[in-house]
Amino acid sequence: MRVEGFDPMQTTVVRERLSRRRQSRHALVHVTHASMGVTDAMAVRGDYLLHPIRGFTPGYDFVGVIERLPADTPPDLHVGQRVAGILPRMGAHASLISVAPSLLVPVPDFLDDAIAATVPLDAVTALFALDALAVESGTILVQGAGGAVGAWASQLATTRGFTAYGTASPRSHDHAARFTASVFDYNDATWIDRILEATDGGVVGAIDHTGSRSVRRTIRPGGRLVRTAFGGTPGRGRSSTAAGFATSALRRYAQPHERICSVPIIVATQRPRYRRALSGLFTAVGKGTLLPPQPRVTPLAAYTDALASMVGAAPGEKIILTTSEE
Ligand SMILES: NC(=O)c1ccc[n+]([C@@H]2O[C@H](COP(=O)([O-])OP(=O)(O)OC[C@H]3O[C@@H](n4cnc5c(N)ncnc54)[C@H](OP(=O)(O)O)[C@@H]3O)[C@@H](O)[C@H]2O)c1
Repeated sequence: MRVEGFDPMQTTVVRERLSRRRQSRHALVHVTHASMGVTDAMAVRGDYLLHPIRGFTPGYDFVGVIERLPADTPPDLHVGQRVAGILPRMGAHASLISVAPSLLVPVPDFLDDAIAATVPLDAVTALFALDALAVESGTILVQGAGGAVGAWASQLATTRGFTAYGTASPRSHDHAARFTASVFDYNDATWIDRILEATDGGVVGAIDHTGSRSVRRTIRPGGRLVRTAFGGTPGRGRSSTAAGFATSALRRYAQPHERICSVPIIVATQRPRYRRALSGLFTAVGKGTLLPPQPRVTPLAAYTDALASMVGAAPGEKIILTTSEE
């Protein structure tokens, strides 16, 4: 898929040849499954700061089969192997991708393709956001606990011994309640006061994707706020992200401390850490320690339908594109 204009209807199917230079240094992976999420929808409508210029292929993560490897490849990879990965720049919504071997993580046999494809971007984001909180115990708040990243973050927080409180609207309340000790409706004007009351002065940390200023009030002195995104109304996503990013960076030493968690940046700069994280998440899903969302498998070729279906997706459903019917 390639975004030819910033309108979902202009996302077109293109066939492109990979350049020889990239082929020689990179692995070739036949993508069988790739997740579609909110970030893709933002990028396709021109609202995503990291892909402001049209002509790119959306999608950050994938599951596929290695077709070719360069000479200096890590020993745990071989041709024909099932692998997954997250790209530092979008490009996974394709049937064949050229990718650095250091980004590839073996998919264990016990995981189904579509389930495995729900894991990389969302669960790794949740895990790194939790790491960035840098707290060891107490109650933490997960904004949008019924959402794709939020459900993973709530579960991971619980497995690490935190009490997880979540926010959700009535629409995703029940899904959020599966993974959290308590759910607060973010539409209720008193939700922050209710959290302060329930926690006797605030949570030790919060993971937020809305960019809200008021969420700072939920955090007790010395606590930390991790931002994974900065919200913004459609059409203003890029400016909201740029402004939110700058403000959060400046608030590094403010009260509460703020940190930004950007998985594309971590994947680009900390590959061994990213590979360990994804591998561990696959194991936890296989053991049943973490529950994945329900994949809704859709052909990659029906791209605009898949984008449209995100609006009506039930809480706990994840759209997984497949190339296998092509
Ligand atoms: N930093 C990174 O590397 C990274 C990686 C992946 C995604 N992201 C970003 O993270 C964000 C969330 O992604 P996602 O895939 O989890 O989206 P998602 O599945 O749509 O989940 C978002 C959740 O947020 C809730 N929500 C909506 N408005 C809210 C508000 N005002 N206050 C609190 N919660 C609210 C929604 O709850 P209701 O359904 O109840 O309304 C929904 O469940 C997106 O902006 C995405 O671009 C960042």
